[in-house]
Amino acid sequence: MAYNLLKGKKGIIFGALDANSIAWKTAERVHEEGGTFVLTNAPIAMRMGQINELAEKTGSQIIPADATSTEDLDKLVSQAMEILGGKIDFVLHSIGMSINVRKGRHYTDENYEFTHKGWDVSALSFHRVMQSLFKADAMNEWGSIVALTYMAAQRSFPDYNDMADNKAYLESVARSFGYFFGKEKKVRVNTISQSPTPTTAGQGVKGFDGFISYAEQMSPLGNATALECADYTLTLFSDLTKKVTMQNLFHDGGFSNTGVSQEVMEKFV
Ligand code: NAI
Repeated sequence: MAYNLLKGKKGIIFGALDANSIAWKTAERVHEEGGTFVLTNAPIAMRMGQINELAEKTGSQIIPADATSTEDLDKLVSQAMEILGGKIDFVLHSIGMSINVRKGRHYTDENYEFTHKGWDVSALSFHRVMQSLFKADAMNEWGSIVALTYMAAQRSFPDYNDMADNKAYLESVARSFGYFFGKEKKVRVNTISQSPTPTTAGQGVKGFDGFISYAEQMSPLGNATALECADYTLTLFSDLTKKVTMQNLFHDGGFSNTGVSQEVMEKFV
């Protein structure tokens, strides 16, 4: 159901790889709610992904940008303003990748070149994106910037590997940049801490099937889906949440505040 929540709002959406991506669902929902946007992803992901299909469906243009390149991001921001005809109201950072995870390197046996690259892509990129927006004065007042994160930033999940550290950094950047964006531009910055979700990035985590089923059984409302995450993101892009900033917002069916559930207990009695 559409509420016209984002009528007239303009944005940039990072990270739509395929129809499972949280960013893909968000783009579809933003479109339904009357928002317009530019889609962006790493040049390599464009070749693998199906982003053209999404662009067509939502009447959007695509601008390739590697989120580890300040030059690419600066260009993206200025081109997006040209295409959209003015400043930007919302930005979704939906980017994550760990080479240690991909190559099966255990947390106690990291390859630090992989660690460094994964941190650059998954965490520092959020600072880079915001710095490009900030310097170009590209955000409208009462605009909203959202990045996606996972609860491994607060609690240990052994197989989440170095992505746990990347997410902790990402959440800290949201607070730190959120202060300056709030003070100087009246823009809010938040992270959404999402349930495990079956996407390309999600399924890369070792033992993902067990992980997602455990979370499902631990969460009083069940896991939040990618579409539900998109819906929650829209509320943060809308004018209904103007004073919410510098927060890490759990969107996980209650998982993060559950000690144990009946379903999980029953496995031990
Ligand atoms: P996805 O694999 O569909 O999206 C990840 C995106 O990051 C892809 O589009 C990929 O091309 C992009 N990316 C990778 N390197 C890049 C670079 N150098 N420059 C620009 N883009 C780059 O997976 P998903 O799950 O939709 O991931 C989106 C976000 O949600 C990530 O931050 C992820 O960590 C987060 N998240 C995912 C959860 C899950 O279980 N799937 C749970 C909690 C958070």
